Amino acid sequence: MRLDRLLALHGPFNRREARLAVATGQVQVAGHVVRNAEQAVSAFERVEVRGQVLQNGKPARYYMLHKPTGCASATTDPRHRTVLDLLAVPDKHELHLAGRLDYNTTGLLLLTNDGQWSRRLTQPGSKLAKRYRVYTEAPITPHYEQVFARGLYFAYENLTTQPAHLTLLGSHHAELCLVEGRYHQVKRMFGHLRNRVVGLHRLSMGPLQLDPALGPGHYRALTAEEIKLI
Ligand code: URA
Repeated sequence: MRLDRLLALHGPFNRREARLAVATGQVQVAGHVVRNAEQAVSAFERVEVRGQVLQNGKPARYYMLHKPTGCASATTDPRHRTVLDLLAVPDKHELHLAGRLDYNTTGLLLLTNDGQWSRRLTQPGSKLAKRYRVYTEAPITPHYEQVFARGLYFAYENLTTQPAHLTLLGSHHAELCLVEGRYHQVKRMFGHLRNRVVGLHRLSMGPLQLDPALGPGHYRALTAEEIKLI
């Protein structure tokens, strides 16, 4: 965001006063006096006006977690343990989830305090592929591949799902690649074909893959390279 906009939004100024405050050397970004009110400022830079902190500029943080079963994809839940309960990191309540998984679904879950980054990952227009391992009650036949590739009508949302790619791995076991994330989408797609999903595991979101070294319930910070992929 532009510095003058940020000052007008969070400070005691209108835009004109904000520009004047910058021009007269009253504003510091990351500890340095800034004279250009049009300068872009990120949410992770400290901004001070006449020594008063407007934005504390805590650093951006990104984690991948191997979500286990029996755990809610939420930051608080009155009844169940949440994925945040699994994290032992400072200020974890400042984190949010970049996409959710159902209570008994396992696999890749991403947490961050960077809203722009998580929006790029989850906004519908991004069409990032999400890959899932699916285990079902009844056999999966080659017919499923055509049905999922054509798309299925979801009456509740009044839409047809985007083409999805299914790869059969066994009689009751497949890999499904989706480019969207509707509510309970995988279970509803198999439900259309009267087959119940008994196990679901997310392997990847776009270019980010679940680290095979992470067991269920374990997590790690993303590397700088992984963060840049989104
Ligand atoms: N689709 C589902 O049905 N459940 C999930 O957790 C993720 C995708």
